[in-house]
Amino acid sequence: MRIGVLSDIHANIQALQAVLKDCQEQRVDKFWLLGDYVDYGGDPVETVSELSKLGAEYMIAGNHDACLYTSSVRSSETPHGKQAFEYTKEIVKENRERFRLLEAIADKPLLHLADRKTLLVHGTPQDPYWGKFLPGDNADVLFDVLEQMDVRMMLLGHSHVSFMLTRGGRTIINPGSVGQPRDGSPKAAYGILDGDAVIFRRVQYDMDGAAKAIQEAGLPEYLWKRLYKGA
Ligand SMILES: [Fe+2]
Repeated sequence: MRIGVLSDIHANIQALQAVLKDCQEQRVDKFWLLGDYVDYGGDPVETVSELSKLGAEYMIAGNHDACLYTSSVRSSETPHGKQAFEYTKEIVKENRERFRLLEAIADKPLLHLADRKTLLVHGTPQDPYWGKFLPGDNADVLFDVLEQMDVRMMLLGHSHVSFMLTRGGRTIINPGSVGQPRDGSPKAAYGILDGDAVIFRRVQYDMDGAAKAIQEAGLPEYLWKRLYKGA
């Protein structure tokens, strides 16, 4: 059984399609999705339509998904983040039916699969929507939480940085970001779980197409320029 773990797609349909093609070639059987499906990118409708067809086994929400449906989860406060949020919110309002998939999971940023001793969370267990953990951060508290919950593997997203950290038989994995990587490589990132093995994949995709969609949506140039830098 090979599980494709995808996070932070951010309305980048070009990256998502390239990753799904790679998943097919890598014989991925099922999908676990870690949130932030929309916002920043120019193709939210197409992205959610593609995900609706996917039939993921597990799917949790990110801060960018939840803030579209509840004011209790704050939206991004950066100038480009605010502009992207307004754009995405308008699209969702106009196409509510096509975003049912997001609406259904918007209040679920965390999923504890006790029988698998696995935790899926967009941010961190302490702050499931907005908590940001980077590989250089002190991981003591996180590993303590995993021990208390009897979790062997935690899958998280949000930082857009792919990494794996192991301590005392417990593992923290971020598969990286499909649609807006920020770890120095612009290639789309995702992970494959295959038994005890974790495979980190990087996939070339049509960045020009993704940049054009952002431009055509009238969103800030910062959002498409960063795609080429992976930053
Ligand atoms: Fe994100």
